[in-house]
Order: sequence, then C-alpha cells, then structure tokens
Amino acid sequence: MSQQQYIFVCTNPGNEILLKEEIKIFYPELVLSFSKKGFVTFKNTGVAYDLKTISQLQLTFATRSGIFYGKSTPENIVNDVKASGLDSENFMIHSFSIGCESEFDAQEAFGREVNGYSAEGKTVIDLIALGPNEIWFGAHSVANGCTRYPNSVVEVNVAENAPSKGYLKLAQIIKLYAIKLYKGDLWLDFGCAPGGASQLLLDEGCKVVGIDPAKLDPEVANHKNFTHMKRSVQDLSHEDLPEEVRWIHADININPKQSIKEVLRLAKKYNRTLKGIIFTVPVVKMEYIENLESFEDQFYDWGFHNIISRQVPSHKKEYVIIATR
Ligand SMILES: C[S@@+](CC[C@H](N)C(=O)[O-])C[C@H]1O[C@@H](n2cnc3c(N)ncnc32)[C@H](O)[C@@H]1O
Repeated sequence: MSQQQYIFVCTNPGNEILLKEEIKIFYPELVLSFSKKGFVTFKNTGVAYDLKTISQLQLTFATRSGIFYGKSTPENIVNDVKASGLDSENFMIHSFSIGCESEFDAQEAFGREVNGYSAEGKTVIDLIALGPNEIWFGAHSVANGCTRYPNSVVEVNVAENAPSKGYLKLAQIIKLYAIKLYKGDLWLDFGCAPGGASQLLLDEGCKVVGIDPAKLDPEVANHKNFTHMKRSVQDLSHEDLPEEVRWIHADININPKQSIKEVLRLAKKYNRTLKGIIFTVPVVKMEYIENLESFEDQFYDWGFHNIISRQVPSHKKEYVIIATR
C-alpha cells in the first residue's frame, strides 16, 4: 500500500453532511478528499490503519467504511485487487453499487461466491461501482457494530398493511444487528403511533405496551397482544408500567436529551429483566452529532455494556442507539 492512506465511507444518500460533521469532530485527522451522494473518501493524515485496526473506526453515519485501495474498471478489477496485495482468494468479497445501475458481475469476474454474510473477524474486499465503468475498491474487517451485509443492505418482509415506515426501520435494525425476538417477550414501545414498529413486534409474536398520546392504527390498537397507554413519557412513573419487560423500543420525536433521560428513568424499573433498548435519535440539529458520545454515555451509566450508534438504510436524518447487556 502507498504511504498515503485513504479511507472510504458509504453513507445513506443525503447524510453526507452529517458524516462529514461526525468525522470533523471525532476523527479530525481524516481530511475530506472526494464526495458524491452516498460515498465519501478521506485522506488519513494520522496513524495509518491496517486490516485489523480499521474496525476501530466506528462511524455512526456510515453504512460501510474501510481502507481505500484504488479505482479500477470491470475489465481490470481482478488484476488490480491482486496487485494491491489484497488476498482475493481467501477474503470475502462484497460487491455493490452506489448511485448507478452497474452490470458488473463480481461472481463471474472472481469465479466465486460474493456478497455472503460476513461473520465477525472476517476480512472483506469491498467493490463499489460508482458508474458503469468505474469500480472503487477497498477492504474492511468485521467487528462489533459492523454490519455483516454488503453496504448494510438487507432484505426484510414488510406487512402490506404496515401503518408506517417504523415497521421497515425496526425490521432492518433487528436483522442488521441480529437482535433475537422471542415469542411472548414483553416490549415497551415509546412513541408508538401510528404503530409500524409495534405491528412488526406483534407479527413476531411479542407482546407490546405502546406509549403515545397520539392516535393508533386500529389494527394495532385492537390486537390482542397490544395495550395502548395514551400518555406522554414524561407523565409516567414506575407504578404505571407493567412488570417483566424484556425490551424497550423508543422512537419519540422530542429533543433526545429529554427523551433519553425519561426512557432511562423508566427503564430502571427493569434492572433485572431488561435485555436492551433500541432508541431512535432524530438529528434535527447539528449539535446532536457533538452529543453522540454523551448520549451513549448515559446508556453506559445505566448499566449497558454493549452500545452502538448507527444509521440504517431506511433512516434518513436519524440514527439508532442499540444498547444491550
Ligand atoms: C416518528 S413517530 C413514531 C413512529 C412509530 N414508532 C411507528 O413505528 O409508527 C414519533 C411519535 O412520538 C410521539 N411523541 C411525541 N412526544 C411524545 C411524548 N412526550 N411521549 C410519548 N410519545 C411522544 C408522537 O406522538 C409520534 O407518534
């Protein structure tokens, strides 16, 4: 690899500004080099990463990031990957396109299966088509917080009658971060209206107590495993809430400083039973990016040990904090 290192980052199209702000605050040694919708590269003016340490780069506004190796074409990519020193025989290959329809067939070019599930510890070569004749390539290693699917794209089933996009959002989070849903588990869903996320949980056999002053989709409201508390989170005390809650989902459109405080206050009731919290943070102000770490710290202080903050493909100006024990 040449001495000057570059880092590539894929993001949700439209979230480039949030990504650049995050890099400016938390990784100032990475200097913007190239940017287009959904794909940004940075020159690394600090200590170079290698294929192990690159997993330490933990970016909330990335769907994929890694060490950038070079630009190529469909005709030359196999040779260029080899010439760059990447072990294309033994590393996994993820091939995807951003902002274009690419006909490049990586499986045929490399003569082996591509886009498989990449387990923790694997090294993955990323082939990213940015145009019909333009393939940018890099590599990353899979660690906690790094999704196992090419550019974090997963296929999920969405019920035809889903009352909101919340169904798709939560389905993607559950699949990308391998959250196990158990039939009969009780969930609290803060900010549940109109009911997309609650409906997904009900479809999976969970029980849900939804908290929201707004009106719910009737199918969710009348489901036998659903209870609606038509209240604001600030108005609730421990005595109002059910026992034996296993998970909390929160998607409340108020200032996250306030909603995190309220949800964690109520979650204290479940010190012994709670497995985790899935908490959506809307990024309506740039200052929320500065707060990324302090928001996470509040979950650590609560007693969670594993916390990641990430956007998922269907999140636009928002990201999710997933806190588990
Ligand atoms: C983005 S929507 C939630 C979408 C929902 N999760 C779904 O999947 O359909 C945000 C919700 O937060 C609710 N909300 C706003 N302030 C609230 C509060 N103080 N307590 C509880 N819910 C609140 C709003 O009524 C709104 O329904």
